[in-house]
Amino acid sequence: MQSVTGNKAILKPFELIYDQKLINSRIAEIGREITNDYANETPVLLGVLKGCIVFLADLMRCIKLPVELEFVSATSYRQGEKQSKELKFESSVAIPLKGRHVLLVEGVVDSGRTVSVILKQLEQLKPASIEIVTLIDKPTCHRNKLNIKYKGFSMKNEFVIGYGLDNTQIYRNLPFIGRLIEQN
Ligand code: IMP
Ligand code: MG
Repeated sequence: MQSVTGNKAILKPFELIYDQKLINSRIAEIGREITNDYANETPVLLGVLKGCIVFLADLMRCIKLPVELEFVSATSYRQGEKQSKELKFESSVAIPLKGRHVLLVEGVVDSGRTVSVILKQLEQLKPASIEIVTLIDKPTCHRNKLNIKYKGFSMKNEFVIGYGLDNTQIYRNLPFIGRLIEQN
């Protein structure tokens, strides 16, 4: 657990996995692909808070099309006495998604539960299409079959931080993807 005293969090040591230059060039490639795939369209970029924010801010500037921007969130919470975690979906999407091309933008897909819950809700709104975009994918961790069309990096089962991704709500502002160094 992160040790926090009042307003002061103590950072654990971390090390680099993907540097900013590499991340920027992958995001530029994804931006080019989306620009080609959605030519003459105005896709809706639907960010999954909070992990999407740094990736989405970069990605949207690499898409050379008109886009609209909306956000959803799906947070885990314990329901009553139950041990199993349920996902609570929250959306304040202001525009009708019916008939729209939606790109669901995530920072990381691990078990895939979060994007699956959101996809199920979105499908009811009858968009023209929905695709998943994620900076980090962990394909060996998916619990169900998931079709992720755009991904920055595929990783093994490893917990990463930075570029929007947190550990106990901090490290999101690191300008690279890294891992915590476990100390004994
Ligand atoms: P899911 O298992 O795909 O539903 O991912 C659940 C959530 O866990 C993600 O939206 C992230 O908030 C968090 N998460 C999963 N893996 C990582 C990681 O490696 N770093 C930081 N957060 C993660
Ligand atoms: Mg988190």
